[in-house]
Amino acid sequence: MTSLTLSTSSAATLRADAVVVGVAKGAKGPVVAPGAEAVDQAFGGKLASVLETLGATGAEGEVTKLPAASGLKAPVVLAVGLGDAPAKGDGYDAEALRRAAGAAARALSGSKKGAFALPVEDPADAAAVAEGALLGAYSYKANHNSGAKSGNGKKNGAPLAEVALLGAKPRDKEFKAAAERAIALAAEVNRARDLINTPSNLLNPASFAAAVLEAAKEHGLKTEVLDEKALKKGGYGGILGVGQGSEAPPRLVRVGYAHPEAEKTLALVGKGITYDSGGISLKPAGHNETMKCDMSGAAAVFATVVAAAKLGLRVNVTGWLALAENMPSGSATRPGDVLTMYSGKTVEVLNTDAEGRLVLADALTRACEERPDAIVDVATLTGAMVLALGNRTFGIMANDEAFRTSLHEIAEEVGEQSWPMPLPSDLRKSIDSPVADLANMGERMGGGLVAGIFLKEFVEEGTTWAHLDIAGPAFNESGPFGYTPKGGTGSAVRTLVRLAERTAAGDLG
Ligand code: BES
Ligand code: MN
Ligand code: ZN
Repeated sequence: MTSLTLSTSSAATLRADAVVVGVAKGAKGPVVAPGAEAVDQAFGGKLASVLETLGATGAEGEVTKLPAASGLKAPVVLAVGLGDAPAKGDGYDAEALRRAAGAAARALSGSKKGAFALPVEDPADAAAVAEGALLGAYSYKANHNSGAKSGNGKKNGAPLAEVALLGAKPRDKEFKAAAERAIALAAEVNRARDLINTPSNLLNPASFAAAVLEAAKEHGLKTEVLDEKALKKGGYGGILGVGQGSEAPPRLVRVGYAHPEAEKTLALVGKGITYDSGGISLKPAGHNETMKCDMSGAAAVFATVVAAAKLGLRVNVTGWLALAENMPSGSATRPGDVLTMYSGKTVEVLNTDAEGRLVLADALTRACEERPDAIVDVATLTGAMVLALGNRTFGIMANDEAFRTSLHEIAEEVGEQSWPMPLPSDLRKSIDSPVADLANMGERMGGGLVAGIFLKEFVEEGTTWAHLDIAGPAFNESGPFGYTPKGGTGSAVRTLVRLAERTAAGDLG
């Protein structure tokens, strides 16, 4: 990953390939943001008008490169748009800093060192710039050549190698802690992205489990892997029913971080369909090209557990990864089949493409057995949620309104777009089945909520639970923006890590 250093050097004298400055939209044209004073001076105090001449406005995401004026060590100045300038006395919004730093880091791919002279007033600003830059610099192809474009790494542009963060005092404890948190967090978001971007022929339930075991060894996590034999013995009919059509058998992975003085335990459950073909209810062409992303929930959960360990949070975080490949074959579950779930409930599988809820149901029941203080499941669960909220916002459902609100606020705080969604009880009867306790599909309208209502049936009464449907934001099919790359985004990791931190601090329940 891109490295990060804190520096109090002047933006004028630091040796780098480019110096990054912020430009905001002012009432009368672009204004240079604080942090860039030394650079502005090298331009005789005329940097804003030079930028305006070049067509810069300060709009969010805008990148303007110009040759440096004499007196600057870096040969290039990269001005990145911050959006509207804040009102007098106000600082820049953390998300504006994150996005600008991300856009700048992306524009510097292939370079060795970028000196970031963005407006940093306090450790929170430093954290935002660091996070944005480290997330924006991410590149899957540069890290992984296996099975991807041959000869890449050079041709496709290596990520920016080093970020020097100016204005952040390296010896100040709070700045140092902010930088360390940003490094751990970005590394884990990028770990989730790597897993999501790995093609399904290179990542199946067994190899995903192996990746967890490897990281667990490194970070002192406790693991337990149920293979197909153990799943059979345990009666995990949901996970087995989804996985039985594939040559690559399913797994249920428990990966736990425990703190000796923890007072709370958070359980996280992730949907880990390493490929979703739809099964016998096969998806049509046009709907299956990106379905390697259907394990984004499990990737987010795994990354969050590792992040909690790296940060040494005073809370227990237990991850449950429900891993299976949903394939059609002679051994696959048929529409109309009835599965006996781990909970003992029976489910009529009306549509084998509604597989996520089946694997999650078993994992939720299992997670409840350990009596955690709260459970959050994360899943690319429904196309309906994408229709409702679009490609950048995840839906939050819960059996506890206060918890749902907390998650929404936490997501907002870390810069992830989300929206609370209801679980209307009138939709429950639509998943009644004449032959089983439940059907895995019901009313088409409000399909995202129906899926949430199905999951709720597998959550122990009295256990605080929330469900994040990340089908929209998990995988970015259009161009990169801000610190979000094309492909796997690492959606929900930052929200879950913040939730763990808040739980550790005793801020919740
Ligand atoms: N993995 C899909 C949901 C999905 C859609 C994720 C688009 C990412 C982008 C899920 O397993 C699925 O196929 N859901 C069905 C459920 C339906 C059959 C009740 C859907 O949403 O169409
Ligand atoms: Mn599906
Ligand atoms: Zn799916």
